[in-house]
Amino acid sequence: MARVTPDQIRQMKARGERIPMLTAYDYPTAQILDAAGLPMLLVGDSLGMVILGHPTTLPVTVDAIIHHTQAVVRGTEHALVIADLPFGAFQVSTEETMRSAVRIMKEAQPQAVKLEGGRRVAASVKALTEAGIPVMGHVGLTPQSVNVIGGFKVQGKTEAAARALLDDVAALEEAGAFAVVLELVPAELARLVTERSGIPTIGIGAGPYCDGEVQVVHDILGLFPDFTPRHTRRFAELGVAMREAAQAYVAEVRERTFPTEAQSAKMDATVIAALREEQPQSSIQASGSPESQAEGQADGYAPPKVPKSR
Ligand code: KIV
Repeated sequence: MARVTPDQIRQMKARGERIPMLTAYDYPTAQILDAAGLPMLLVGDSLGMVILGHPTTLPVTVDAIIHHTQAVVRGTEHALVIADLPFGAFQVSTEETMRSAVRIMKEAQPQAVKLEGGRRVAASVKALTEAGIPVMGHVGLTPQSVNVIGGFKVQGKTEAAARALLDDVAALEEAGAFAVVLELVPAELARLVTERSGIPTIGIGAGPYCDGEVQVVHDILGLFPDFTPRHTRRFAELGVAMREAAQAYVAEVRERTFPTEAQSAKMDATVIAALREEQPQSSIQASGSPESQAEGQADGYAPPKVPKSR
């Protein structure tokens, strides 16, 4: 099956078909989500928080995005893979934005990039799309600006802020973006933006009226223990399942019920019998002190002897 294209995502809006999207950061997760039929996967800079444990997305580098995007691209055949431009990769100039995006496209080969901002980044969005790089916009709460915003807060609540958001989305559409993420905006504002916009809106914390929905995969799978954002729902408790599996493993290793013969390799019995007949090389070389022999027997493993001098 061929990969989903940005044009097909636009057609989904035209047909009134909902557009589900999740983040992915690694090969096995990408394989599972691709097989589940996700048309779009985002290698978000949220990886800084849910994979690397940073308090914000700000420390994420272009190198990290490339590293994770390569894994997600390798793990997918069908999904349109979008790589996030991290903080610092596009704030300086359009030229710098182009350099970051070209590097990501060449080295990781996603099918599109995403960047935060509205009118402020419209010139860069235009340059990227004209250079052949599909772009997804991102407005509302833009987590890379968390220090200016003063927290992960709902955006667009006042008339001025709501108008600014409508203008931002119009500017991104005009610049050639094929879709736009609306993060943490009131549901009725997201509905209005969706009605007015010719490109699909992909909500997160933006209510039920967007054309699509994106969530951080760790949030919906119960894999991020630090906190659960209000806008998410846990569709599974994989964190609990992982802890229980790890506890079962620890218990079985301690009780010697894992591994068993079933997880072991076999060899010719005559070979091992012949080896057993011989006196071990280490005990021939050893001084023969009773302590060292007892130690080796008790543990079933004789630690290497540290020479006293060279
Ligand atoms: O980085 C990310 O995961 C995102 C989504 C939350 C839209 O930007």
